[in-house]
Amino acid sequence: MSSLSIDQQARAAEAYILQELRKTEDGISVLKDKEFQTRLDTNFITIFAIFAELYGYRHDCLDQLVDLILMCGKSWQARDSELRIIDRQRELDPEWYMSNQMLGGVCYVDRYAKNLQGIKDKIPYFKELGLTYLHLMPLFLSPKPLNDGGYAVSSYREVDPDLGTMDDLREVAAELRKAGISLVIDLVFNHTSSEHQWARKAVAGDSEHSGMYWIFPDRNVPSAFERSTREIFPDDHPGSFIQLPDGRYVWSTFYHFQWDLNYSNPAVFRAMAAEMLYLANIGVDFFRMDAVAFMWKRMNTDCENLPEVHKLLRAFNALCRIAAPSVLFKSEAIVHPDHVISYIDRYECQLSYNPLQMALSWEALATRDASMLAQAIERRHNIPRGCAWVNYVRSHDDIGWTFSDEDALELGKHGLNHRKFLNAFFVNRHPGSFARGVPFQDNPRTGDCRISGTTASLAGLESGNEGALDRILLSFSIAMSTGGIPLIYLGDEVGQLNDYSYLNDPSKMDDSRWVNRPFYPESNYAQRHDPDTLPGKVFAGIKRLIHLRKTTDELSGGRAIGFFTGNPAILGYQRPGSGGAAIAANGRRSSLTGGQTGGLMNSMVLCLCNFSDEFEWIGRDRFLGMPESVVDLITGYEINLHHAGIHMKPHQYIWLKWTW
Ligand code: GLC
Repeated sequence: MSSLSIDQQARAAEAYILQELRKTEDGISVLKDKEFQTRLDTNFITIFAIFAELYGYRHDCLDQLVDLILMCGKSWQARDSELRIIDRQRELDPEWYMSNQMLGGVCYVDRYAKNLQGIKDKIPYFKELGLTYLHLMPLFLSPKPLNDGGYAVSSYREVDPDLGTMDDLREVAAELRKAGISLVIDLVFNHTSSEHQWARKAVAGDSEHSGMYWIFPDRNVPSAFERSTREIFPDDHPGSFIQLPDGRYVWSTFYHFQWDLNYSNPAVFRAMAAEMLYLANIGVDFFRMDAVAFMWKRMNTDCENLPEVHKLLRAFNALCRIAAPSVLFKSEAIVHPDHVISYIDRYECQLSYNPLQMALSWEALATRDASMLAQAIERRHNIPRGCAWVNYVRSHDDIGWTFSDEDALELGKHGLNHRKFLNAFFVNRHPGSFARGVPFQDNPRTGDCRISGTTASLAGLESGNEGALDRILLSFSIAMSTGGIPLIYLGDEVGQLNDYSYLNDPSKMDDSRWVNRPFYPESNYAQRHDPDTLPGKVFAGIKRLIHLRKTTDELSGGRAIGFFTGNPAILGYQRPGSGGAAIAANGRRSSLTGGQTGGLMNSMVLCLCNFSDEFEWIGRDRFLGMPESVVDLITGYEINLHHAGIHMKPHQYIWLKWTW
């Protein structure tokens, strides 16, 4: 063990690296850039400490770092001047993405717009909707027809030729930027496709490339790992490994054509870091860090959410701070809520999907009881400053019931049984269900199952249930107002239904998530301005919510404070304005900014959502300490809180605002 402190070690390592770089022309030119040097100096210790911890046992650890830093420097050199301007702007306004102006949309390029040119053509619509963030689902070269919706990447530097070219993507990024829309792209870095050249070389027996994956000569080690790992896609293959034609075994968490990269090999880290910075320079604003939970493996663990994953993410993040400083990460960890939160950190992932709020919004609609959702908002919503949830109603994936069993038990719900009920309810195997979902990865052996379906079909529009429209809008009202960036799966804002055509496509029929990935719903969009049609009603409702969000400053930022309504069917939460004060359960007004409001007007928005199919009521005692008369932003009506409490219609949501 070294007797030097980590700081001293880092300094020595940095000096060695600079010395090595000065030996090459490339290195000399990289070091000429003052800005690069400063950023390197600030972030080097992070990268060094992580490298030393993960790879310090290797004799070539420092040389790996020399190569990494050189790659990073070259990448900074290649960064476009327009992107460098954004880098500087965002450094001056580091929480720009916490604004209430932010609104996200997500789509598959081919399904929504045919190709990248089609995406450019849709920019006027994105502006009409108010988007400031567009997630284009994986659009890189991938095997055909099986590619897990593009999540099996064969080259991170080639766009799928059916969609366009890298230059087209660069143009899309630039056009979106002009329109004030950030580009979000997946960094699928847990695995590559089996057709990636690294994988092909590994199959051919090349030892350098075999070392990039988890490949074993026989079943011994794989079987030992599988004693504690979870089956993720059991419909595709049991366990975590698949066999190669030559008899060897390769780790494959998801589909058999997606092979997990071996990050215990620093060459893998370096290779993926290079791909990341290459894409950052195309003009990507946010990387959606795909399947983060699975990136590190250790025997006798479930190989999910291991501490090393956090280190990898921090190292990737630090590299961006050096060579693409405006780029931010969004974690895709659809796991237990304790783990979801563990990825959220300015130095790790600044953004994260909010799978708990998403799943529990559906849970509350099914049970007509908002207790679990209220508990989640109260207990698990607030995350570190400068970090934001991405709040969605549903994604391109399935809905998994990822709540904590302990939380559920406190409310008298047995986790396993409750999940069984929810699965039955959402696939219409429960009497009185309004939902038309489809089971995903139904595993009778473990009892695990998840749900696929579009927002409209899950909310009851497909079954013709009369509460459907209100349920859709209620769900969106929550995503728009709890704090963070709301994200719309494009097409849901015009009420698109499930698309069962995947059942006729042999490459998709076994993956029910395709039911919730419909093609661009042309006729729904055509009717969006007609208030007599269902698409028109959904669109008008969502547009109104977007307008209110963007004109209500209290909805900026991420903090939400639970509000106990005393009625389990009604969810309540408060969003304090920047002057910030909340009404505590005892009715006393408490300052959230340490009393230093600097003369700012205090303001508050109290959101209430009725999950019941019936009229529901909140007693006036709940509103003690609040003004007598407040305005509901949704309807524009004034409400007297002190007279008779609040009566709410089935599925009604109200946003009460007052200032003082
Ligand atoms: C993520 C994606 C999902 C994909 C998986 C494997 O969870 O959202 O669609 O199947 O990663 O890449």
